[in-house]
Amino acid sequence: MKNDAAVKIDNLKKEINEHNYNYYVLNDPKISDYEYDQLYNNLVKLEEENPKLITDDSPTQRVGSDLTKEFKSVQHSRPMLSLSNTYNEDELKDFEKRLKNILGDDAQIEYVAELKIDGVSISLKYVKGKLAQAATRGDGTTGEEITVNAKTIHAIPLKVDVASQEKYDLSEFEVRGEVFMEFTAFEKLNKEREALGEKIFANPRNSSAGTLKMQDPKIVAKRPLDIFVYYLISNNTDFVSQTDNLELLKQLGFKVNINYEYCKSIEEVIDFCNHWEEKRHELRYEIDGVVIKVNSIAQQNELGNVAKSPRWATAFKFKAKQAETIINEIRWQVGRTGALTPVAELESVFLAGSTISRATLHNIDEIRRKDIRVGDTVKIEKGGDVIPKVVEVIKERRGENSKETELPDKCPVCGTEVFKPENEVLYYCVNNQCPAILKASLQHFAARGAMDIEGLGESIINLFVDEGLLKSFSDIYSLKEHREKLVDFEKFGERKVQNLFDGIEKSKEKEFAKVLFALGIRYVGSGVASKLAEHFSNIENLMNANEEEISSIHEIGPSVSKSVVDFFSSDQNKELINSLKNTGLKFEVAEKKISRNIFDGKSFVLTGTLSAMTRDEAKDKIISFGGKVVSSVSKNTDYVFAGEKAGSKLKKAEQLGIKIINEEDFQKMISE
Ligand code: IVH
Repeated sequence: MKNDAAVKIDNLKKEINEHNYNYYVLNDPKISDYEYDQLYNNLVKLEEENPKLITDDSPTQRVGSDLTKEFKSVQHSRPMLSLSNTYNEDELKDFEKRLKNILGDDAQIEYVAELKIDGVSISLKYVKGKLAQAATRGDGTTGEEITVNAKTIHAIPLKVDVASQEKYDLSEFEVRGEVFMEFTAFEKLNKEREALGEKIFANPRNSSAGTLKMQDPKIVAKRPLDIFVYYLISNNTDFVSQTDNLELLKQLGFKVNINYEYCKSIEEVIDFCNHWEEKRHELRYEIDGVVIKVNSIAQQNELGNVAKSPRWATAFKFKAKQAETIINEIRWQVGRTGALTPVAELESVFLAGSTISRATLHNIDEIRRKDIRVGDTVKIEKGGDVIPKVVEVIKERRGENSKETELPDKCPVCGTEVFKPENEVLYYCVNNQCPAILKASLQHFAARGAMDIEGLGESIINLFVDEGLLKSFSDIYSLKEHREKLVDFEKFGERKVQNLFDGIEKSKEKEFAKVLFALGIRYVGSGVASKLAEHFSNIENLMNANEEEISSIHEIGPSVSKSVVDFFSSDQNKELINSLKNTGLKFEVAEKKISRNIFDGKSFVLTGTLSAMTRDEAKDKIISFGGKVVSSVSKNTDYVFAGEKAGSKLKKAEQLGIKIINEEDFQKMISE
């Protein structure tokens, strides 16, 4: 038998949760704030008197009191994918054609069109109806656990009534959605920050992302974060359609954006996109497009994924928003490669959720072609994530004082004469000691996606370089020796310095591919770095490789190989690698990634459509395990790797008695 207090607590919890739901999910409060506070305070009091009766999912437990020291990494149950993009009607029709290529011309395809909320994606895991874990997207495979922060978002239910859904086994399920901040909340927050002399957020998305990763849940709770959920996953239950899932999510008490539409044809999808492109300004939150999903889950499964995005969904991106402003100055910025790029310093304007005061002008040719001058009134635009750009000059508004800009003949930072390589449009500072190059390289090294060193952002790097503390990447790892000096810097202090040191220490765990990317070798982006790491396994093999060997890797071209060989032929870079090795950075792939030659000399023929990987990915895998891929089936073929709708090659393999494997077999072979 439950005692009196337990019953009262249970009832209060139910009542408060209900009002919470009305207020935060439905935007339809049934009682006044005062009445709500009274209920809440009653619960707090009863729980204080009966601490044993406090449960994790009580509404009083939304705000934890402990600071998060570090966000734990968590592996996503299924990758959190991104989406391919479309920009116009024709591309949407092409999307449908691609679907029909796989599902067949006669396939009936129905869609759901949803608003693409411009926020931060989040994964929420529920076990036995209780919120068990919340995580950020991270790199799509591994995210960061931010449960305590997610709990402060009132629109996220801490507990859901899974038993009410008899049709589904929801003992364990995962929900994905987008955390965002409404415009008014964002502006209010920025005003408060400005008043406190704190840095303001550039746009609502940044403020949501920054807030979700704060260490103090009490501060997170004060920021009005909100959520729309759009995706339901459970291994226990076969779902039928996205529309059913959205309805189910609503019934479970999640906040689903109401503006989604079931569309019977791609034409209806196009109408939806056009409608929202026009009406987006009427919303209280930022959207950057529409997400179009194939409604049937069976069809979704049949379509599968390519590399990092599902084949069954795409994003329709709205045209960039434009604004008019004035160019106050044109500054030459020196980047990581030494390239001089012109940047327009603008009269600040508000555009697409953020205040813009700079735009890139790309290069001198672009400035001349568009005839951009200091003092001009220009149209600027911003699309998605990219830095705003100047679209055109409004010539009628050009004043007499407008001034043409000249390309500097010396580096604006170190004064070295600039150099223009043949066949390139850009000019370069070739002084490898130039502080601007050093700063930009360090920024790249420490950035997310590379060594990801928390606390080592642009302004700190600039300060440390100016103070002579950082002259190369390896100096980062001996900053510890300067603790006292760092603690003395204005606005730094013990705690920040310790956080920075922790961040630096943590970066030593970064895998080889990230270290390789962080080095900032020209043309070696993160994808290329992964391929190089996987192929060569360690830095010595890579340093000893010649251009030919490097170019033989699938999708790696001659400019990459030349750049890599050039980089490692420099004595200074060899020294750099040595000193970084001494600090303990990883220069070889972890054991499990070293490829084994399980397919040594075996020849494969690929045919049909694969769903879990692209053909190129399959080919890469086969090669990395020592096999080769040939185009036609003969008696010398060892395996025919057949996907959906395999045709004549499959037949021939059957006739010749060659071993036929499907994706599942292949996965098994390589994971054994
Ligand atoms: S579905 C596999 N639906 O857009 C399904 N995503 O560019 C992929 N997003 O990472 C996501 N609103 O953060 C989906 N209604 C919506 C969305 C949405 C915003 C974000 C999400 C995703 C990104 C893809």
